[in-house]
Amino acid sequence: MSFDFKKDPFENFLKSYKEAQLKGVPDANAMALATVNKENQPSVRIVFFKEFFEMNQNRGFCFYTNYHGRKAQDMQDNPKVSANFFWPHLDHQVRIEGYVEKLPREVSEKYFASRPRASQIGAWASEQSEEISSYDVLLDKITALEEKYKGQNVPCPPHWGGYALFPLEVEFWFGKSGRIHERYVYRKTAGGWDRFMRSP
Ligand SMILES: Cc1cc2nc3c(=O)[nH]c(=O)nc-3n(C[C@H](O)[C@H](O)[C@H](O)COP(=O)(O)O)c2cc1C
Repeated sequence: MSFDFKKDPFENFLKSYKEAQLKGVPDANAMALATVNKENQPSVRIVFFKEFFEMNQNRGFCFYTNYHGRKAQDMQDNPKVSANFFWPHLDHQVRIEGYVEKLPREVSEKYFASRPRASQIGAWASEQSEEISSYDVLLDKITALEEKYKGQNVPCPPHWGGYALFPLEVEFWFGKSGRIHERYVYRKTAGGWDRFMRSP
């Protein structure tokens, strides 16, 4: 795979992402998202990248989640995050550092409306990251919610929505033989992107 440094990081990301999908990488949109809380404790988990979002002449990687969960609390206290995609079929990693902002309400609501009904019910049922006494308690809540919303659209919970991750640095890593890997880095500047390579 050849890398074109003349393209911006989003174009290069999309090229790689599409190739990963074509090559059959399962969940090619899965990204590890690392947050850091008030006590400087990092925490990482997978979320699904959904689309790009333009805000204030910036472009961000969107994902959706519960606004009350652990990661949301971390991001409220500290919007600096890091994310990582790894596509084994391509031996390719994309690493992102930046900050998050919540998506406008109407964007989250539109996306929520497109989700499968079971996921919509689940968003109401799950107090994400909170301790629960048993799995059955959750299933009972789901049954009650299915009854409540029978024959109606499920509205987007106020505590559910998206974030855009606006990158300040994006690194494209390509595995090469002999571990002489290629690393292409974009770093955001006032007017665009600095471009340079890093030693593997
Ligand atoms: C493949 C995969 C995709 C996931 N996608 C999401 C997602 O898009 N949004 C989300 O909130 N959690 C997603 N999860 C669950 C998270 O990894 C995590 O368990 C959950 O968000 C709670 O994290 P928190 O307690 O740190 O807030 C996904 C997990 C996996 C394995």
